[in-house]
Amino acid sequence: MSLVTVIQHPLVQHNLTRLRDKRTRPQEFRRVLSEVAALMIYEATRSFAVEPLAVTTPLARTKGSQLRREVILVPVLRAGLGMLDSILQLIPHARVGFIGLKREEKSLRALFYHKSLPADLSRFEVILIDPMLATGGSAVSALDLLGERGARYVRLVNILASPEGIHRVHSHHPGLPIFTAAIDKKLNHKGYIVPGLGDAGDRLFGV
Ligand code: PRP
Ligand code: URA
Repeated sequence: MSLVTVIQHPLVQHNLTRLRDKRTRPQEFRRVLSEVAALMIYEATRSFAVEPLAVTTPLARTKGSQLRREVILVPVLRAGLGMLDSILQLIPHARVGFIGLKREEKSLRALFYHKSLPADLSRFEVILIDPMLATGGSAVSALDLLGERGARYVRLVNILASPEGIHRVHSHHPGLPIFTAAIDKKLNHKGYIVPGLGDAGDRLFGV
């Protein structure tokens, strides 16, 4: 599995363009973000480990397979919530943990305000979801916390990533698989991804 997978599927790119458009209002932004998350999850879970499982159909016994590990989805609040429901529709047996992080406007440091995770994550496939990977501070804090809880099989799913964010994640968590719909050019002086899509949380929730 490569370290960074940019999902070039035409439907993903079509939806990403709708998300970037400043005229897209929260109602539509929510729907489109949800759709693009669902489209991305096929690719993001392609390397999930499976194990053989025999199954008896109404006609015969045959070979099948099942996921080897339990799955937990971990949205980073707030904006990660916009990707949760549609992914849960596709992995309905997944558990859900939550990490609340807020980036300080001036320092751009990510501060925790909520943690709701199992004490031991070692048996789970963990999917960390957050639309934006900007400076990477939030992702690294979230990944550090997952590591403290013993997580071993973790992947990060973003809608947009910056080169700086990817570099920061990989310098703290070498080899961590990242899935994104695009890698944008740069960050501006306020730590926003350019061209980006603006503030994902504000665009989702209107505040
Ligand atoms: C946004 C976004 C990421 C973070 C990315 O959240 O959803 O979590 O910024 O920035 P970083 O890579 O520089 O850390 P924010 O802190 O604005 O909170 P919100 O989702 O509640 O709006
Ligand atoms: N958080 C966002 O929501 N957007 C950015 O461009 C950077 C951080």
